[in-house]
Amino acid sequence: MPKIADIQLPDFPLLLAPMEDVSDPPFRALCKEQGADVVYTEFISSEGLIRDAAKSVMKLDIYERERPVGIQIFGANLDSMLQSIEIVEKSNPDIIDINFGCPVKKVVSKGAGAGILKDIDLMVSLTKAMVERTHLPITVKTRLGWDDTSIKIVEVAERLQDVGCKAIAIHGRTRAQMYKGNADWKPIAEVKNNQRMHIPVFGNGDIDTPEAAMRMRDEYGLDGAMIGRASIGYPWFFREVKHFFETGTHAEPPTMEERVEAARRHLQMAIAWKGEKLGVFETRRHYTNYFKGIPHFKEYRMKMVTSDESADVFAAFDEVMERFGDFEFAET
Ligand SMILES: Cc1cc2nc3c(=O)[nH]c(=O)nc-3n(C[C@H](O)[C@H](O)[C@H](O)COP(=O)(O)O)c2cc1C
Repeated sequence: MPKIADIQLPDFPLLLAPMEDVSDPPFRALCKEQGADVVYTEFISSEGLIRDAAKSVMKLDIYERERPVGIQIFGANLDSMLQSIEIVEKSNPDIIDINFGCPVKKVVSKGAGAGILKDIDLMVSLTKAMVERTHLPITVKTRLGWDDTSIKIVEVAERLQDVGCKAIAIHGRTRAQMYKGNADWKPIAEVKNNQRMHIPVFGNGDIDTPEAAMRMRDEYGLDGAMIGRASIGYPWFFREVKHFFETGTHAEPPTMEERVEAARRHLQMAIAWKGEKLGVFETRRHYTNYFKGIPHFKEYRMKMVTSDESADVFAAFDEVMERFGDFEFAET
């Protein structure tokens, strides 16, 4: 069973991917409850942390209930990355993850995120310096390469391992692909099959059914699956994958009661974390997904996404339960 440094994980763990504006404490808690074995924060700017930018600092908030939890940081400047480690350590995460995969222009143009895939020596030396600076396990999340002419992920992963990286999660796309085309898991399997690799190799990209997760385990032989988009508004995806692994059958989709309860808890946790106003405002974007597939739902959704008071949103949840309580959701 895979281990990240001393963190023992179950067989073929499911990891919640870091996702900007999605992987916040309430969402991470819901995914954890539904079976995510490791969760990550969204990426946090090392420059933002050392400038003490409130928005970056708030992203460091983690809770006991979600452990093991990784805080993900990004940057390209060695000094800033090292300084930010000291700030991150104060939050006491279980893992510090480095983002070497973000493809967006404003990150890449500074040499951060996937930008570093153009300079593998820098990627390795930065990782090494970070490993040496902290007692916490350093892990890396990256892509296959910069473009399809420069895929050297087998060599890159081995070099990262050799400088002390404790696990690697690989999104099966290049930077040039952004999110287009299909994720290719074959090069990730090649990383795993490298006889010299002994750290966990987690696969990422396009796991959108329990069957896909099973293929990643059985056909590609990876150590675990990192799941992103399939979990957005659907934290039950983790339990559905686990159910499928255990029984070979599909779990029943979550009932209306479970969905209302998840929405309610999401809002409660968001308010507890960032206060009534922001909590109400920033949880709005999740409701559509929680209640997807219900006909004639618009009136209720509008109430949820336009009310400024949490009491009104909670009342809308009650109404939904009353009106649609016995609605049967189709399997996703
Ligand atoms: C909304 C969104 C935000 C993301 N933010 C991050 C991030 O902060 N850090 C990161 O490493 N990857 C980020 N990603 C990439 C995901 O972690 C993941 O690699 C990608 O979505 C592929 O996995 P999936 O097919 O399971 O979604 C983001 C993806 C999405 C859709």
